[in-house]
Amino acid sequence: MQFFMDTANLEEIKKYAALGLVDGVTTNPTLIAKEGVDFEKRIKEICEIVAGPVSAEVLATDYEGMLKEARTYAKWAPNVYVKVPMTFDGIRACKTLFDEGIHVNVTLVFTVNQALLAAKAGAKLISPFVGRLDDISEDGMALISDIVEMLSNYRYEAQVLVASVRHPRHVADAAILGADVATIPAAVLDKMFLHPLTDKGIAQFLADWAKFKK
Ligand code: E4P
Repeated sequence: MQFFMDTANLEEIKKYAALGLVDGVTTNPTLIAKEGVDFEKRIKEICEIVAGPVSAEVLATDYEGMLKEARTYAKWAPNVYVKVPMTFDGIRACKTLFDEGIHVNVTLVFTVNQALLAAKAGAKLISPFVGRLDDISEDGMALISDIVEMLSNYRYEAQVLVASVRHPRHVADAAILGADVATIPAAVLDKMFLHPLTDKGIAQFLADWAKFKK
């Protein structure tokens, strides 16, 4: 399973890249705005740290506007993946960009049919948002299960990128289902290391050793 980091924060990316855990990065306008940095500069900085796919999202909502932005982003670094929204114009742009050899991540996917449309349009990554479905009392992980199964019936190039990950259980469930990628916020990655019995076990071993050495 590939781990992407869902952040535009360089320190967070560097912290986990040093462990060899970062296969790619996803950004969106909210994450870039949170950092308060220049979009192009930040995407280039991320691409220098991470060799794998780095998603940069279009702001245009119309076909021509998306293409213009996508072609610009694609020149920033060879590993830029252009994120387009799951709309009619987004899918149309995805097909055109696929024909031009530009890699596309179709974002804001909430149904199997949306994932199927993205796969048929040549998306390299399809981003279903599990947390936002859970937020409205739907089952985000059931959607991942359905999309993984649907894609396994065919030979599309698309990979399932589990997005809107809110807690470690989302990552574990995505891995059990065989999702190709999870894009994980740093705070969730931090929690994946933890278990109280690990801490308790270390404390016990050290205490026992200290008694023995007296
Ligand atoms: C990643 O590609 C998505 O933009 C991101 O995971 C959305 O997460 P959120 O629902 O927590 O904003």
